[in-house]
Amino acid sequence: MPNLALLVALSVVACELAAGTTYEMIKEYAGSGFFDDWDYYDNYDNLTNGDAIFVGSGSDLTYIDSTTNRAIMKVDNTSTVAYNYKRDTVRIASKDRYEVGSIWIADMYHVPYGCSVWPAWWSQAPDWPTGGEIDTFEGVNLVTMNQMALHTESGCKQVDPVQSSTLINTTDCDYEVDDNDGCVVTDPSTASYGAKFAAAEGGVFVTEFAETGISIWFFSRSSVPSSISSNSSTIDTDNLGTPVANWPKGGCDIDTYFTAQNLIFDITLCGDFAGTASIFNETCTGTCYTDYVIGNASYYDTAYFDVASVRVYGVNGTDTTASSSSSSGAMSNNLWDSRTAAVLAAAALGATALLAI
Ligand SMILES: *[C@@H]1O[C@H](CO)[C@@H](O)[C@H](O)[C@H]1NC(C)=O
Ligand SMILES: *[C@@H]1O[C@H](CO)[C@@H](O)[C@H](O)[C@H]1NC(C)=O
Ligand SMILES: *[C@@H]1O[C@H](CO)[C@@H](O)[C@H](O)[C@H]1NC(C)=O
Ligand SMILES: *[C@@H]1O[C@H](CO)[C@@H](O)[C@H](O)[C@H]1NC(C)=O
Ligand SMILES: *[C@@H]1O[C@H](CO)[C@@H](O)[C@H](O)[C@H]1NC(C)=O
Ligand SMILES: *[C@@H]1O[C@H](CO)[C@@H](O)[C@H](O)[C@H]1NC(C)=O
Ligand SMILES: *[C@@H]1O[C@H](CO)[C@@H](O)[C@H](O)[C@H]1NC(C)=O
Repeated sequence: MPNLALLVALSVVACELAAGTTYEMIKEYAGSGFFDDWDYYDNYDNLTNGDAIFVGSGSDLTYIDSTTNRAIMKVDNTSTVAYNYKRDTVRIASKDRYEVGSIWIADMYHVPYGCSVWPAWWSQAPDWPTGGEIDTFEGVNLVTMNQMALHTESGCKQVDPVQSSTLINTTDCDYEVDDNDGCVVTDPSTASYGAKFAAAEGGVFVTEFAETGISIWFFSRSSVPSSISSNSSTIDTDNLGTPVANWPKGGCDIDTYFTAQNLIFDITLCGDFAGTASIFNETCTGTCYTDYVIGNASYYDTAYFDVASVRVYGVNGTDTTASSSSSSGAMSNNLWDSRTAAVLAAAALGATALLAI
């Protein structure tokens, strides 16, 4: 006789999976207020050994382009840098952290690239590697394809992904394995990075941070779904098709390895990844620091993010967690109170371990 309870349980699970998940917008970073809710690192790169100084707020390396109303974050491409000095650039982290059960969508027209340049759009928990890291977008030097990854404590692997990319570099997400390579998937589309990304007018990166798994979609400008380009207040993952990268719960229990994430944009120069000689010489010639970072700024005209918006959606919408004291407008973030957010953001900036990306 069939176990009725089990059948019911299974069909409930099946329905939930088949139905996808609908998320409701909880936060928008866009337009003149884009930079309002981020912390600037304001220190040299002591995280990944880059030849870079991450500026504080108020720098002219982050601004809203008055023609496009989009956010620019760039490497200093005007100053001459002397030997033994580092070049100015940007690292910002969202003041708010987003829980399991969130999606973040970044609409970009340009990403930084060029010899010595190492940009990323990613997230992490403040006690990394506890709480995990999700790298939605990352590249170095003149590579042509975006690389995506998770970094976690021991025990999280990519197993049986449902994804379109066949370019799986590594499957163990443990930061202690292979010098913290993480479990890396490469996007086969050359429109996902560098000059071809820019030529296609960029596109949209979608990161789903769900109990059932972590997924990343990339849509080049001409194929951005209308639910995204229309600035819909809800996102249903059923309408997004197969993700380019996917790390299902089966190989990595998301609730165990991941906690609420700060979203981060950064651009560093050389350092542990871009500057490693055997990686640098795959796409560039010469020596990362002496031939590029120092001297005039002529190598950095393509080293900038141009971002139309970042939108965050949550499974609970704004009618969510516990003790938020205010019931302010629909777009206010009430995931936690602002004092907690400030403490957590400060902790995030202080606690990042070496090789965090
Ligand atoms: C949604 O609400 C549940 C129950 O209050 C909470 O545990 C969970 O963290 C919330 N998820 C998000 C993404 O806010
Ligand atoms: C990952 O694999 C792709 C395809 O084989 C390759 O082009 C890329 O360089 C690899 N990335 C890393 C970081 O090894
Ligand atoms: C996108 O939608 C949100 C809420 O639905 C709204 O607050 C915001 O102004 C819209 N953004 C743009 C750029 O139209
Ligand atoms: C790149 O550097 C590595 C070691 O640093 C060397 O073995 C390799 O031959 C170099 N490749 C090229 C294309 O120069
Ligand atoms: C910048 O430096 C490079 C390398 O030294 C040199 O080839 C180039 O002519 C310089 N450009 C300007 C505008 O000075
Ligand atoms: C520097 O980069 C910006 C784009 O970020 C570009 O508009 C500008 O022409 C570049 N060159 C100089 C010398 O500022
Ligand atoms: C990096 O520098 C900041 C500011 O001095 C400091 O708070 C932080 O602990 C340093 N991080 C590491 C990993 O050294």
